[in-house]
Amino acid sequence: MTIRRVCVVGGGTMGSGIAHVFAQRGLEAVLVESSSALADKALASIVRNMDRQAAKGTLSAADKEAALKRLSVVTSIEKAAGFSFAVEAVPENLELKKKIFCELEIHAAAGAILATNTSSLSVTEIASAVKDPSRAVGMHFMNPVPVMALVEIIRGLQTSDETHRTVCELAVRLGKTPASARDFPGFVSNRVLMPMLNEAIECLREGVSSREDIDTIMRLGMAHPMGPLQLADYIGLDVCLAIMEVLHQGFGDSKYRPSPLLRQMVRAGRLGVKSGRGFYDYPKK
Ligand code: CAA
Repeated sequence: MTIRRVCVVGGGTMGSGIAHVFAQRGLEAVLVESSSALADKALASIVRNMDRQAAKGTLSAADKEAALKRLSVVTSIEKAAGFSFAVEAVPENLELKKKIFCELEIHAAAGAILATNTSSLSVTEIASAVKDPSRAVGMHFMNPVPVMALVEIIRGLQTSDETHRTVCELAVRLGKTPASARDFPGFVSNRVLMPMLNEAIECLREGVSSREDIDTIMRLGMAHPMGPLQLADYIGLDVCLAIMEVLHQGFGDSKYRPSPLLRQMVRAGRLGVKSGRGFYDYPKK
């Protein structure tokens, strides 16, 4: 099936970024948000990020206008009906994602592929909500989506070879590099990344080093674009904790135990960039 029209559910940071990239790369993208206020917010953030690319000269004014013409924002999946590919990027709640998959199945074109952008939940379980799980798959984008080169493709237990091949080709159409993983907790990306961030938080808790030095050591010593504490703040400490819990429960191995300091930060509402305070302060601009 040739994919031309796609539906993206959820207009938060990830969903907006995904819709942005689809529209920029020549596909008709319909972004679904739950209210018109959130739809307006999502559209404004896409326009802002496209303006940023235009200012840097990585997107011409004409291409930006053409991309925005291919993008629409609606307030129900029904209004997006007829899509041949959909990706959900709603909060990391298994029941919510299963419900969205059921709704997507009702309004999709025949033979459509349904993808989840989950960062650690079971793709197999989300896919179990639909009649044909062979056409369900994980398509895990990285933040910021317009910038990051990778899409992690996760094969659920029943994902067909054809679905897998089609989404790998789709990732290439988006200018990304696909890399595949099987459906185990955290896949590859977060199984490797999150324990590293968690360990950096443990270094801070134990007083091994200051937050600045921990970040400098990893940024300059390992050539990471951001230090681990800065990256944890950027991802969201609640998201980091939720993923560590999935790893800890999924493998039953104490090496994935979330840092008590991470738990404390989340309990205090210090969630990182989004709450204005995490390991660092982010004053409102
Ligand atoms: N939309 C469009 N463009 C954006 C953007 C956005 N949201 N955010 C940044 N950019 C662009 C900038 O315009 C800039 O473009 P040029 O290179 O053409 O100049 C470029 O990205 C770099 O941005 P900045 O100059 O503002 O800042 P920077 O050099 O400090 O880079 C960063 C910012 C790209 C975020 C970089 O620090 C980085 O790569 N950090 C690591 C990000 C990372 O690890 N992401 C994965 C997180 S894990 C995840 O997402 C999965 C999960 O499940 C948790």
